[in-house]
Parts: sequence; C-alpha cells; structure tokens
Amino acid sequence: MTLRVAVIGSGPAGIYTAEALVKQAQEDVRVDVVERLPTPYGLVRYGVAPDHTSIKSIANYLRRVLELPEVRFLGGVTLGEHLSVEDLLSHYDAVVYATGAMVDRKLGIPGEDLPGSVAATDFVNWYCGHPDVSASMFTLDSAEIAVIGVGNVAVDVVRVLAKTADELSSTDVPHDVLERLGASQVKAIHMIGRRGPEHAKFTLKELRELGELANADVCVRDDEAVVLGGDFPRQIRGNIDVLQSWAARPPVGRPRRLDVRFWLRPVEILGTDRVEGLRLERTRLSEEGRVVGTGEFETLPVGMVLRSVGYQSIPLPGVPFDERSMTVPNEAGRVRDREYVAGWLKRGPTGVIGTNKSDAAETVRTLLSDLAGHDRTQSAPIDALLLERGVRPVTYDEWLAIEAAEGALAKSLGRGERVKLAGLEAMLRACRP
Ligand SMILES: Cc1cc2nc3c(=O)[nH]c(=O)nc-3n(C[C@H](O)[C@H](O)[C@H](O)COP(=O)(O)OP(=O)(O)OC[C@H]3O[C@@H](n4cnc5c(N)ncnc54)[C@H](O)[C@@H]3O)c2cc1C
Ligand SMILES: NC(=O)c1ccc[n+]([C@@H]2O[C@H](COP(=O)([O-])OP(=O)(O)OC[C@H]3O[C@@H](n4cnc5c(N)ncnc54)[C@H](OP(=O)(O)O)[C@@H]3O)[C@@H](O)[C@H]2O)c1
Repeated sequence: MTLRVAVIGSGPAGIYTAEALVKQAQEDVRVDVVERLPTPYGLVRYGVAPDHTSIKSIANYLRRVLELPEVRFLGGVTLGEHLSVEDLLSHYDAVVYATGAMVDRKLGIPGEDLPGSVAATDFVNWYCGHPDVSASMFTLDSAEIAVIGVGNVAVDVVRVLAKTADELSSTDVPHDVLERLGASQVKAIHMIGRRGPEHAKFTLKELRELGELANADVCVRDDEAVVLGGDFPRQIRGNIDVLQSWAARPPVGRPRRLDVRFWLRPVEILGTDRVEGLRLERTRLSEEGRVVGTGEFETLPVGMVLRSVGYQSIPLPGVPFDERSMTVPNEAGRVRDREYVAGWLKRGPTGVIGTNKSDAAETVRTLLSDLAGHDRTQSAPIDALLLERGVRPVTYDEWLAIEAAEGALAKSLGRGERVKLAGLEAMLRACRP
C-alpha cells in the first residue's frame, strides 16, 4: 500500500515537509506538492532579496526534493479555487497546509490607505517579480521615503532602495522593475523603529551590510543610539555597537542618505490625494515595558511610506483559523483528523528558511504516527478531477522551461544568471509555447 499526501504550498515549509515524508515514512509514499503559482519555492523566489544570491541558492537544495521520484509538483493549482479540503481528503490519506503568510499587518493609523502608503509585501513582490504585482505598480518619484519597522524585511527594502540599478543589474530583478529602480528620484530614506536599538529585530549580518552601501551614507543620531544597561545577548550587543559606530561617523556625501531612527512611532500618514508626510511621535517604554507616546511630535516630508511591520497569514477556506494569532491552531502540526500544518501558517511569520526544516519534521512525525496502522486510500490520483475542472497543472518540467527562459532572457540582456519573467502569461508562454 502507498501513503498519499498532499502538501499545499511549495515554499520551504512545503518542500521540507515533502522531504521529511520521504525520509521518515517506513512505507511507500507519494507526495503531491500543490502550488498556486506556476513556480516553486515560495518566499525563496518571491521574498529573499535579489542581491542575496547565496541565500537564494537554497533553491538548489529544495530542487533536489522536487526531483525525488516520490514527489510531484503541481503548479498553478489553488486550494480554495481549484480544489477544496473535501476534494483533498477524498484523494489523499492526509493533507499538510503550508501556504505561508502572504499579506501585510496593518498599522491602524489615519492615512494608511492613501496612495503612496505601501505595504512592504507589495513592494517586495514588485522587486521580486511576483505575478500578483505588475512592474508598473511603483514609480520612485519621491525624494524622501519612510520605511516603518526595523526587522530584516525593512533592511532588505531600504537596501534595494539605496542601491543603484547598476548594483542590481546582475540580479534576477525583472527588467522593467530594474529600469524603474534606475529612474529612482529617492535621495533620503528614513527607517523608523518604534523602540530602541536594543529592541530592533534585524540581525547583525544584515545590519552590517547597510554600512557597506556604496551609494548611501548611513546616519544614526547620537541621542537615539544611546542604550541604557549593558547586559545584552551577543547579537543585540553587536547591533548596538554597529549603530553607535555609525552615530560617530560623519556622512561623506554619497548620492543617497539612509537615516536609521529609533524611539519614534507613526501616528498619521499625511496628505489629501496622496502621501505628503509622515507624523511621528517620540516614544519611551512604560514601567510595564509598553511603547507609549511622549507628546513630542515630528513630521517627515516623505512622498511614500513603506510599512514593513510584519507579514500575516490568511485563512484557507474550510480550514480552522485563529484570528488572534493569525495561524492555524495545531498540536505539533496536527489540525484535525488527517489535516496538518507547517511553516509560517503554523507558527506565524517569523524565522529564517532553516527554521521551517525542523518545524516540518515535527509535523511529519505527528502525521506518520497518527496514520500508522490505518487503511490507505484507494482513490485515483487527483489529476482526473483537475482535468474535469479544466485545470492543467504546471509540471516540474514545465517549471524548468520557465527557469530556462529566465536564463535566456538574462543572457540576451547581458545581465547575470537569470532575469525573472514578468507576469503569469509570460511564464505560461515560456513553458507551453
Ligand atoms: C521579504 C522576505 C525576505 C526573507 N528573506 C529571508 C532570507 O534572506 N533568509 C532567510 O533565511 N529567511 C528569509 N525570509 C524568511 C523565509 O522566507 C520564511 O521563513 C519561509 O519562506 C516561510 O516558508 P513557508 O513555506 O511557510 O511560506 P512561503 O515561503 O510563503 O510559501 C508558501 C507557498 O504557498 C503558496 N500558496 C499560498 N496560498 C496557496 C493556496 N491557497 N494554494 C496553493 N498554494 C498556495 C504560495 O504561493 C507560496 O509558494 C524572508 C521572508 C520575507 C517575507
Ligand atoms: N536575511 C534574512 O535572514 C531575512 C530577511 C528578511 C526576513 N527574514 C525573517 O522573516 C521574518 C519576518 O521579518 P519582518 O521584518 O517582516 O518582521 P519582524 O522581524 O517581526 O519585524 C517587524 C518590525 O515591525 C515593527 N512593528 C510592528 N508593528 C509596528 C507598528 N504598529 N508600528 C511600528 N513598528 C511596528 C516591529 O517593532 P517591534 O519589535 O517594536 O514590534 C519590528 O521592528 C523574520 O523572522 C526575519 O528575520 C530574514
């Protein structure tokens, strides 16, 4: 008998789940990795910054999983649109949801919906060439931009904004997007933390990279770099030291300027038809450790506000969802009978790619122990049902054709190894000429 499992989502969590199933199962196993896009790898392809090529190369590891004989890639198939939970449960012994966290958290302040107030999710999707976002979505015509949040995504976003098109030319950024980045009018970028340097979420390696930008001076104010107390973990101590060294370093007149600010919270995005400014309030910590306003305000004359305050999962039709934690409630990955969850949908949107490996292994241990000794489904593969509904999944080989077309495009443009094709149609044309 064969154990048949559907994994929904082909990001790191989904692919590590498929790998763990093949490695851990003591019986014949078949895994279908169902993905709404024609392309695998989730945020490794559409999140990890284009200039972080060594991290992007994790795709080479994930690729080997999709090439296992027990694993199949079914691209262009969406749970909730083409398939329901009931369809999956009647065709597989178990289902693992690994659809990540696709939308932005809200700030909840006036002006948040003005044109020019942009979610980092959209901006990241834009420079990563995600088919949900068109290349014409952003024009960088403001001289000053604010980025709210001091996590690693905010660091990615400010780095991309600070670099020149030349510096990004060898990356896989879609060509139209690269041209828009080349035409950028941005002179000043303000990265805003609502607490102090010791509370920032970015990691030391990523922070240090900002200090190496060839095209931007990085500035920190003396008074905002001050940190009370001295007993911090090594990573945080490292962040503080780097920030304080920048506070002591005068700008040298590079074309752009990045101001890393602390103890300021956004209270209103100003403007009538579009963003014209950002009103901030100075903050401090209350005795209970909460961020509170001091009643002292300042306004930045920015034409764009990028909100990088975290991602969030969305409910899947027919799957339990906790609206408070914005995750699928689970016990060691078990949601309900024969339904499991992994990755950001299980834990929330934190953690690096590798975190999803142990997380997926835990889910698979639960799944295999629950299903041990149970009868296996005799149902036919899901293919006939999809065909009946007019859905022809993108196969792994078709994905390879998309990849090859991206390589050919890079070559024709004289750019690096690959340039992303913009839009679903271009991808489908490349794999189904
Ligand atoms: C901007 C950004 C940059 C990052 N950079 C790094 C980095 O440099 N290094 C690092 O270690 N970590 C990085 N991370 C973290 C890392 O990307 C995550 O830990 C990881 O991607 C989470 O994996 P996941 O599989 O849960 O989600 P995802 O990677 O988001 O994968 C989810 C997949 O599910 C698919 N899907 C969604 N809904 C459906 C549906 N209804 N039906 C079918 N498929 C669906 C999606 O298309 C997607 O392919 C970054 C995160 C972000 C947001
Ligand atoms: N190179 C890499 O390894 C890399 C790159 C990108 C992402 N990632 C990972 O992906 C995960 C997600 O990253 P992320 O940057 O999206 O999230 P994050 O690390 O949670 O950072 C979110 C930031 O937004 C701030 N914030 C939240 N709500 C706010 C509000 N209402 N007003 C002002 N600021 C607010 C947070 O401040 P508070 O702390 O005060 O809440 C924090 O600074 C992280 O685990 C990250 O490490 C890794």
